[in-house]
Amino acid sequence: STVQPTFPKGFLWGGATAANQLEGGYDQGGKGLSTSDMLTAGTHTTSRKITTALDPTLNYPSHEAIDYYHRYKEDIALFGEMGFNVFRMSIAWSRIFPNGDDLEPSEEGLLFYDQVFAELKKNNIEPLVTISHYEAPFALAQKYNGWSDRRVIDCYTRYCETLFTRYKDTVKYWLTFNEINILTLPFGTFLAGAMIPKGNGELVDTSQDDPQARYQALHHQFVASAKAVKLGHQINPDFKIGCMIAYMCSYPLTSNPEDVILAQQKDNLTNFLCSDVQVRGAYPGFAKRYFADQGIKLVMEPEDEQILKEGCVDYYTFSYYSSTCVSADPDQEQVGGNLSMGLKNPYLKASDWGWQIDPQGLRWSLNNIYNRYQIPLMLVENGLGAVDEVEANGSIHDDYRIEYLKQHVIAMQEAIADGVDLIGYTPWGCIDLVSAGTGEMKKRYGFIYVDKDNEGKGTLDRSRKDSFFWYQKVIESNGAVL
Ligand code: BG6
Repeated sequence: STVQPTFPKGFLWGGATAANQLEGGYDQGGKGLSTSDMLTAGTHTTSRKITTALDPTLNYPSHEAIDYYHRYKEDIALFGEMGFNVFRMSIAWSRIFPNGDDLEPSEEGLLFYDQVFAELKKNNIEPLVTISHYEAPFALAQKYNGWSDRRVIDCYTRYCETLFTRYKDTVKYWLTFNEINILTLPFGTFLAGAMIPKGNGELVDTSQDDPQARYQALHHQFVASAKAVKLGHQINPDFKIGCMIAYMCSYPLTSNPEDVILAQQKDNLTNFLCSDVQVRGAYPGFAKRYFADQGIKLVMEPEDEQILKEGCVDYYTFSYYSSTCVSADPDQEQVGGNLSMGLKNPYLKASDWGWQIDPQGLRWSLNNIYNRYQIPLMLVENGLGAVDEVEANGSIHDDYRIEYLKQHVIAMQEAIADGVDLIGYTPWGCIDLVSAGTGEMKKRYGFIYVDKDNEGKGTLDRSRKDSFFWYQKVIESNGAVL
C-alpha cells in the first residue's frame, strides 16, 4: 500500500479498569454494598455465584481486589511512567450513593475520586470515566430489582448530576454504561441490569431468563443514558459523553447465504441495536421486528422518544477481544469469548480461556462501526487474559501478550489508514485485576503484575512485566515502534 499507516498526533494511549475489579475497600469510606460485592470467585470451569447476603465462608474477590483504594498513588505513578495520557476508570456508584436512592451523596466517596483525579493530573493523565461499570448499589437490586424498575432512572440521573457538577473541570471524557449491550444477552441480567435472576444463583445461569424484563431494563438504561448526555452537556458543553459497546465480531462460518444473514442479524441485534439508539437516537427497524417476533412489549412513556433523540452520544467506544462464527448448522463446535459464545473458527487460535485471537477482526470491526456512524471511535478494552510466570529474579516475560497487543495495534493502524477516525486506545486491565467473568486473579491482562492469587493470597506488590517496557516505547513513539 502507498499509504504509510500512522497514528494521528494527540492520539490517546492508556489503559482501562473498573472500580469493582481493582479498588477493594468495599466497606470503607462509607461505601455501600454493590452488586459486584455479592459475587463469589469462580474459575474457567465453575461459575461465579450471586449471593443475596454475604457469607463469611466464601471468597468475594471485589472486597479487597488489588487494594487500589489504598495504593492508587503508586499505581498511577506506574501508569505515568508508561507514558499514559489517558486512564479509563469507573466510579463505584455505591461510594457516592451507598443505597442508590439516597437523596444526598457521600462526601467521603466524592473526596476519594477528587484525590484520584488530582493524582492523574499530577501525572498528566486525562481521566476517562465510566459512570456505571457492571455494578450498582446492591440496595437497588433488592428494593427495585435493579434496572427493570423505571425509578432507577432517577437514581442514576441524580448520581450523574452529582458527578458532572463535582468533576466539571476535572473530567472531560465520560461513558454512561459499560458494555450496555450485555443486556441483549441472557446472562447480562445481574452484571449490568442489577436484577436478581430467578435461576440457581450461578452468574451464567440463563435457564430462567426473562427477555421482557431484560429489554425493559435495557430501555430504562437507554433513557437514563440519553438524559445523562443532555444533562452533562448543560453542565459543561465541553464534555464528551460516549456509549460503550462489547463489540462481538461474528463471521458467517461459510458462504451459505443462511450463515451470512444470521451473522448480519447477530451484528444488528447484539452490537448495533444499542449503538443505534445511543448514537442515532431511535430504535432501529430490526429491533421493532425482533420485539414483535419475541412477543416483547416495551413499556415506554410518551416522552421517551424525544429523550432518546436529544441524548445522542458524542463518540462511540467499544471493547474488542476476539471473534467467533455464526452458522445455520446446529452441530458446529461452540467456543467462549468476551460475552459472546459463538462458533469455532478453523483459522484462529484461542487463549487459555478459549477466546479466539483475531487482530484482523479488529480492523474489520473498526471499519464496520465507522461505516455506520462516522463519529470518533475509541477502543477502550482489548487484551489477552493469560497466566503469567514470575522468574526467580522477579521478571515476567509475557511475550505472548506483547504479540497479541502488537498485532491489534497494527490492525488499528490499518483501520486508521482505511479512514477510520480512531482517537484512543485503552487496553483492558493495564494492571492485573479481578476477572469480571470468572472472578479469578490468575487471568491476567496487565502490564503491571500484582502479587495475588485466586485464593486471595499474596503480598499485593506491583512489578513491571516485559510488556510494560514494550508499551512504554509504543506510547513514546506514538505507535511507530512496535
Ligand atoms: C469486559 C468487561 O467484558 O471484559 C470487563 O467490561 C472485563 O469488566 C473484561 O474484565 C475482560 O473479561 P474477563 O472476564 O476476562 O475479566
